[in-house]
Amino acid sequence: MRILLLCHSFNSLTQRLFVELEGQGHSVSVELDVADSVCEEAVALFRPNLVLAPFLKRRIPASVWRAVACFIVHPGPPGDRGPSALDWAVLESRPQWGVTVLQANDDFDAGPVWAHASFPMREASKGSLYRAEVTQAAVTACLQAIERFEHGRTAGAAEPEPELRCADGDGDGDGDGDGWRPLLPQSARRIDWARDSTARVLARLRSADGQPGVRDEMFGLDCHLFDGHPATPAALAAVPAAPPGSVLARREGALLRRTVDGGVWIGQARNPLACGDGPAFKMPAAMAFAAQSAELPLLDVPLDRDAQEWGEIRYRELGPAGARVGCLSFDFYNGAMSTDQCRRLLAALQAVRRRDTQVLLLLGGRDFFSNGIHLNCIEAAAHRPDDSAADESWRNIQAMDDVALELITLTDRLTVAALRGNAGAGGAFLALAADEVWAHQGVILNPHYKNMGNLYGSEYWTYLLPRRLGAAGAAALMQQRLPVSAVAAQRSGLIDRCFDTGALAFEIEATTHALALAAAHNLAERVARKRHARDTDEARRPLAAYREQELSRMHRNFYGFDPSYHVARYHFVHKLPHAWTPRHLAVHREAAAGSAERA
Ligand code: COA
Repeated sequence: MRILLLCHSFNSLTQRLFVELEGQGHSVSVELDVADSVCEEAVALFRPNLVLAPFLKRRIPASVWRAVACFIVHPGPPGDRGPSALDWAVLESRPQWGVTVLQANDDFDAGPVWAHASFPMREASKGSLYRAEVTQAAVTACLQAIERFEHGRTAGAAEPEPELRCADGDGDGDGDGDGWRPLLPQSARRIDWARDSTARVLARLRSADGQPGVRDEMFGLDCHLFDGHPATPAALAAVPAAPPGSVLARREGALLRRTVDGGVWIGQARNPLACGDGPAFKMPAAMAFAAQSAELPLLDVPLDRDAQEWGEIRYRELGPAGARVGCLSFDFYNGAMSTDQCRRLLAALQAVRRRDTQVLLLLGGRDFFSNGIHLNCIEAAAHRPDDSAADESWRNIQAMDDVALELITLTDRLTVAALRGNAGAGGAFLALAADEVWAHQGVILNPHYKNMGNLYGSEYWTYLLPRRLGAAGAAALMQQRLPVSAVAAQRSGLIDRCFDTGALAFEIEATTHALALAAAHNLAERVARKRHARDTDEARRPLAAYREQELSRMHRNFYGFDPSYHVARYHFVHKLPHAWTPRHLAVHREAAAGSAERA
């Protein structure tokens, strides 16, 4: 079928559906929901059999849903309606949740249901649930709904039959069921530090993460808080007693705040005073309150520590001596890696390379393996006296390169990047710095930089990518700027293995396979081959030469006359709505432009 994806932005869910539908042989095009007239134009140009709307912030115009069947993906079970579905579910600690695919009509979220899927809830942020459970359930439900719709069409039915005639909660089809939940207001998210338990504080923070955050006060200043994690009794014992709400210590970029029955680490904050005159954006909490945080005690933790003790970088070892696997995870918020985070990761890599292990398993973060340099921290630098976004970009990419270099030159053991979540831009190339790259079937890679204002990119991609895809394959991938599923990535040789599992089972599978690799009878031979290949490559062209060439182009991106990267980063960090759909996504417009040119 011809399927038009209509979306507010080409987000992770939309990307996943895009690759799944293309993988099934459908002809897919994308239109960003900019205005009713643009949507009407897209339908006229593409003539889709079906419009699928995975992520919308506005209603589909009646002129469109009357002309063509439009399926809406609602992140809630049948009967649930409203714009804050997942927020409410997380806030209310629902044990089970779901996704419904319903047909657009003149009532909000109340059209006929074509399919739905459910999942058990996990103690996690809204964003994390959205990127994992919701996305997986949405794929299941969408594929089922599309199959049902397609079957009806091919069977010649006058009107294909949905699963349920309505989604309005009371089953009478009049759309007045009681499933409507309004936009979750800040008043319902408010934290009462003098009363709320740690569990309540966390539920509030998680229901508002990634957006809009919980409105609060810190150090007497209005701000929004994000990214909450429980503090352990051990962490709390290390700081003096203080009333609930007090900010007690810092760790990495996070701040420790007392609750009535414990404490929480607040990872991210939005403080307008740290963002100059422009609109505020989130950044590591310790950076958002830099002066105040500098006064707080630093509560560091060892890499190898208790599983409950929160921290971004963690290391543990498994397996017997001589067949040991070191597992290094770096769970950076949103997969973004600031200069500071890269330097800490580099120090961790330098520490773990001194350990006697045979395989190093790089687990990245749970939600994202990595998304490259930290665009918000770079934006923040623009608002600091004596600093600039260009300077911070430059420091950040150097620090990323140092991490990649450490991995590429780790030649006394095998390294494996296990992608538990998606990887984008420099983060995707960081994975390629390992000897092997494994992922599960839900992972999406965006191994290209151009979407960020035509950034050239570094992380030794000019060395790492052609050795996997050849020069032409590498150039094509960088040019097309599209998401790639793990399945397709394995097929093309971009990654080595795609496990047919969900995210949770993948971590166990990856660890089991890493242990088998460490115990393999030919391990020594493989390591020797790897060292020899590295030496040969180095003799042919030193890594320093790749880095120098890439960075000369990046220097131009950061400091040159063309401001595209700075403009794109500003738009990205401030979440400015798109004014038009990029041509590589809107293939219907590309085709129309082509025929106009030929005429
Ligand atoms: N720096 C800072 N924040 C980043 C980031 C980065 N490199 N990459 C992603 N994020 C943040 C987003 O702003 C968003 O924040 P939110 O919590 O306020 O919503 C969150 O991560 C999720 O990103 P989103 O774009 O919604 O996720 P996605 O899965 O839909 O898309 C990407 C993933 C990688 C395609 C997209 O995030 C992206 O293009 N990131 C920028 C990559 C990049 O250009 N890096 C710099 C060059 S190396």
